[in-house]
Amino acid sequence: MSSYHIKHLEEYFQVYRKSITDPESFWEEIAEEHFLWRKRWDKVLEWDFSKPDIKWFQGAKLNISENCLDRHLRTKGEKTAIIFEPNDPEEEARHITYNELHDRVCRFGNVLKKQGIERGDRVCIYMPMIPDLAVALLACARIGAVHSVVFAGFSAIALATRINDSDCKMVITSDGSYRGAKTLDLKAIVDDSLEDCPGVKTVLVAKRTHNEVSMKEGRDFWLQPLLDDANQSCSMEIMDAEDPLFILYTSGSTGMPKGMVHTSGGYMVYTAYTFKNIFQYCDEDVYWCTADIGWITGHSYILYGPLANGATTLMFEGVPNYPDYGRFWKIVEKHKVNQFYTAPTVIRSLAKQNLDYIEKYDLSSLKVLGSVGEPINEEAWHWYNDNIGKKKSPIVDTWWQTETGGIMISPIPFTTPTKPTYATLPLPGIQPVLLDKEGDEITGNQVNGNLCIKFPWPSIARTIWGNHERFRDTYFSAFKNQYFTGDGAFRDEVGYYRIIGRVDDVIIVSGHNMGTAPIEDAINEHPAVVESAIVGFPHDIKGNALYGFVILKETGESRVHDNVRKEINQIITEHIGPIAKLDKIQFTSGLPKTRSGKIMRRILRKIANHEMDDMGDTSTLLNPEVVQEIIDNVK
Ligand code: WT7
Repeated sequence: MSSYHIKHLEEYFQVYRKSITDPESFWEEIAEEHFLWRKRWDKVLEWDFSKPDIKWFQGAKLNISENCLDRHLRTKGEKTAIIFEPNDPEEEARHITYNELHDRVCRFGNVLKKQGIERGDRVCIYMPMIPDLAVALLACARIGAVHSVVFAGFSAIALATRINDSDCKMVITSDGSYRGAKTLDLKAIVDDSLEDCPGVKTVLVAKRTHNEVSMKEGRDFWLQPLLDDANQSCSMEIMDAEDPLFILYTSGSTGMPKGMVHTSGGYMVYTAYTFKNIFQYCDEDVYWCTADIGWITGHSYILYGPLANGATTLMFEGVPNYPDYGRFWKIVEKHKVNQFYTAPTVIRSLAKQNLDYIEKYDLSSLKVLGSVGEPINEEAWHWYNDNIGKKKSPIVDTWWQTETGGIMISPIPFTTPTKPTYATLPLPGIQPVLLDKEGDEITGNQVNGNLCIKFPWPSIARTIWGNHERFRDTYFSAFKNQYFTGDGAFRDEVGYYRIIGRVDDVIIVSGHNMGTAPIEDAINEHPAVVESAIVGFPHDIKGNALYGFVILKETGESRVHDNVRKEINQIITEHIGPIAKLDKIQFTSGLPKTRSGKIMRRILRKIANHEMDDMGDTSTLLNPEVVQEIIDNVK
């Protein structure tokens, strides 16, 4: 029996049992057999959720870029590591071999060193989906710098907040980015944000769109000439397993985003292990995850997980509807994609289009389909299964989070029987529990509860950058000795999990985690606004859309209101980015509040969802009369 590559259901159950009864020897065996360590660990696991303090493979030394690159060179040097498919279908795709990628990462590592980046320094990466982005992450990893990738759809203000929070010394960006028919001037956004970031000493700029940019003398450098000049051998830093590998921000219940810190040893083992099993990757396969590297999905399952397995991973620069809605399927045919991993919001928007867009293309290479980011509704699941998988490619509905680093609950294809809308069973090493409000475990099947994980796994985030207390309060204090996910889940009669959705103030919009607080903070910056509250409501493509209830200083005419609506979305775009714009804005004279002054979102959520018949208990409200006013004004 191989624990590393599970192929049958009985094997899964055996492996799972072993991973629970003796997690340490389970992970030790996998770590030993499938990775390259410069020094072995002294201890597999040490943990205490009350602090929380979690350490995997303590004492071990490694470099993750060596595991993703160097160790494959002897056997797979000429294998394609990355297929780059550009935004413009007329532009030629690029196949980058492991040798070439290694060479480029080494040069880039030397460029970073020459610019003064040292082990432990933070480097912010704000780039389009081009090969230099992947190279930048791996180069940081190689020299022991901590990368902090900020999705290139975030605004200048959001970027500056993230740069400053982790004291980044350098920003790596590009002149611009292509998104379908549009181009975005990334460098100009970086320039704006750096007005407020005194700690940034250097900006490296990759050329992509060739638009004119301003280059600040002594601070900004074009990347390519530096790479051309750089030495092609770059010694790597030997890192401790628990040294931070990267920071990735996710939004939370206050305006300040949370910089989740992932470390290198456990993260590598877990992402590689889950990649292998969940996508059943075989050596000649072409694997494609459509996410952006700016999100955790891209970190773990475009880059580190696939490369640690010596896979061929496809990076797509563009969008699903450019030049038309057939683009994804054209790419699948062109590169004979075997595993395809995308988000429900994308599936729903493609399902609205004519089937001609699919039928034109040969999708017979597909073996496994994946879904991530939010619950996949039954209709979208069937559409995906029937039209893309032709009922022969299993769908892996993968549940996980930025904080978990890797996939936690998911079918293993050809092994776990799938069931629409169910993420099914926990992966080896993952011990989910459902808890009631009091924190008591709800045992048995066909039950609902707060989804928690009661034992650590190797890729769990270790802290929030600069704020360990917030890490403890957010994830480890709601329920004693448990990691609380913030999600509610249902366990069916055979023990399959179905994720129901967030039970906190986070709203998942198009698969993106949106904290309500940062959006409300942005809205409240509008001079006419007194207060605001955001809730989610169902949207047929985005899954959820945002509904804002806003109190204005003065009530005015509707024409003025329309302007304020526009301005509010403008402010949100400036502070966060267009992904956080509101679909509906309702002005109101008050917001339902408890006696302690907390907004009762439960009520607003019901109103936004048009569930006005039963408002539940409103007796604890300070201002119950406002509820009727809000209901009366719903459009
Ligand atoms: C939240 C995490 C994991 C990478 C992308 C999102 C929701 C994620 C699923 C799924 C139902 C899902 C959860 C989770 N979520 N995958 N397969 N089924 N819900 O990462 O931005 O950290 O968001 O996304 O609510 O808590 P994220």
